[in-house]
Amino acid sequence: MTRRPTPDVKPRYCTPRNPDRVTDGPREACIAEALGTPFLPWQRLVSDVFGEIDPDTGTYWYDTLVLTVQRQAGKTTRERACETRNALWGPNRRVWYLAQTGKDASEQFREYTTQFNKSLLAPLARQVRLSNGSMCLTLRNGSTIRPGGTTDSTGHGFQGDSLTLDECWALPADTAKSILDGFLPTTTTRMKLTGVRPRITFCSTEGTAKSTFFNPKLDELRARMDAGDDLGRTCFVDFGIPFGSDPEDLDNIWSHHPGAGWLFDFDQLRDFRDQFGDDAAGWARAFGNIRDTGIVERAIDAALWEDTTGPVIAPASAGRLCFGVAVAMGGTGTAIVACIDTDGPPVVQVVDVLPGIGDAPQRLRELQDTYHAPICIDRRGPSAALADVLANSVDDFDAPRYQLADLKPADAVTAPQAFLSMLEQHAVLHAPDRQLDHEAGIAAKRMSGDAWLWSRKPESNAPTVEAATLALWGYTHMDDDAPPRIW
Ligand SMILES: Nc1ncnc2c1ncn2[C@@H]1O[C@H](COP(=O)(O)OP(=O)(O)OP(=O)(O)O)[C@@H](O)[C@H]1O
Ligand SMILES: [Mg+2]
Repeated sequence: MTRRPTPDVKPRYCTPRNPDRVTDGPREACIAEALGTPFLPWQRLVSDVFGEIDPDTGTYWYDTLVLTVQRQAGKTTRERACETRNALWGPNRRVWYLAQTGKDASEQFREYTTQFNKSLLAPLARQVRLSNGSMCLTLRNGSTIRPGGTTDSTGHGFQGDSLTLDECWALPADTAKSILDGFLPTTTTRMKLTGVRPRITFCSTEGTAKSTFFNPKLDELRARMDAGDDLGRTCFVDFGIPFGSDPEDLDNIWSHHPGAGWLFDFDQLRDFRDQFGDDAAGWARAFGNIRDTGIVERAIDAALWEDTTGPVIAPASAGRLCFGVAVAMGGTGTAIVACIDTDGPPVVQVVDVLPGIGDAPQRLRELQDTYHAPICIDRRGPSAALADVLANSVDDFDAPRYQLADLKPADAVTAPQAFLSMLEQHAVLHAPDRQLDHEAGIAAKRMSGDAWLWSRKPESNAPTVEAATLALWGYTHMDDDAPPRIW
């Protein structure tokens, strides 16, 4: 069956194109065409945004591209056009293409030079050196394009005008740091010398639990975009299936893979799936661009999670509700989720995910003042310190400042099972939320006696799921006819 490409595959996140700036994207597109691989729509989109020109200086606006896309979408091919254009911008430019190992980079480089030599651009080359260790394409303008391996780098080897780190999911954080420490300090002088802003590109499919450089980078950028932050000189583009959606649904993959229909057809997609066999997580990563955190079995079935998606409740129309609060392992964040009464089943909805725990008491006070709703929090585990603060806090009249749900340790152990059972019966729904959807995909069980609890291992820590669990528990145990309180 031949299917047409999904028109206009939408990225999960994308720095918007600023129409007030002209862009060098069309020039990169010309180079791509000359190399025999005219840009696919998504490749052009990236080049148009990342290629925006600062009207004040006439050089690139962005200095950093973070690009994450599925396997076999044309990432490396786009980089080649981009690097070639960069080397042609002016004389004596220094362009680097880095892959995981020197061997990977050399193989890519050989393919690139073959492509270059066969293309309309061939007359622009002065010399191609293919001997290991000193591989280099030198152009007539004196610019060089060279490959390198990240794992065998000394850290000071890659200085210049453009640095691409392909497949950077494989980079450990310390290696990335030493590469950046070598490159970044030299960029100011290069910019002065050449008038062109040096650029660095991190380009990769989502990684694994070992991606200690790329995972936090992606998490940070997504959170900042969610919060509406301006990312400054960083351009961020992120393609993949929606977080929490089903990677086994080939239609879902097809409509979110920007190479689908251009570089492979639907029958091939089926074959690709079959090649992954039992490796569901590997498949989800390669063709869904969902991080493979090493969780073999997710506790919440993907189809169930999708089926129980509910409405977003506007704060003004929220009726009876209860807040659930959970602190992430290591106190790195505090999730606040509300379970809200509706005409249909109650809906759990993320209210806030705060960095750390310091701001949580104040935020919870504001919420309680506004909604007059109880707070359900686990008195043990990573939330214990915050729970103590809330439990011991009194107002000027020595009355408890927070209205806490009476969650006993024995209740905390049954709450996750109750949450899952109610989801299975569609007796509770969840409002769409990026963080909650993501965590629903990684949440795993750990046994505690005969019952199970949410795992708090780093790769499956899911504080928003935990907070949703507690919000629902608190909600279902709220006193229906509690005496009115004075606030
Ligand atoms: N614009 C294009 N026009 C024609 N063919 C293309 C284009 N972009 C990519 N391809 C082809 O699609 C295949 C995959 O491209 P590429 O290797 O660049 O993808 P990738 O995203 O880097 O893949 P991987 O994740 O496996 O490294 C290659 O055979 C490449 O030649
Ligand atoms: Mg590639």
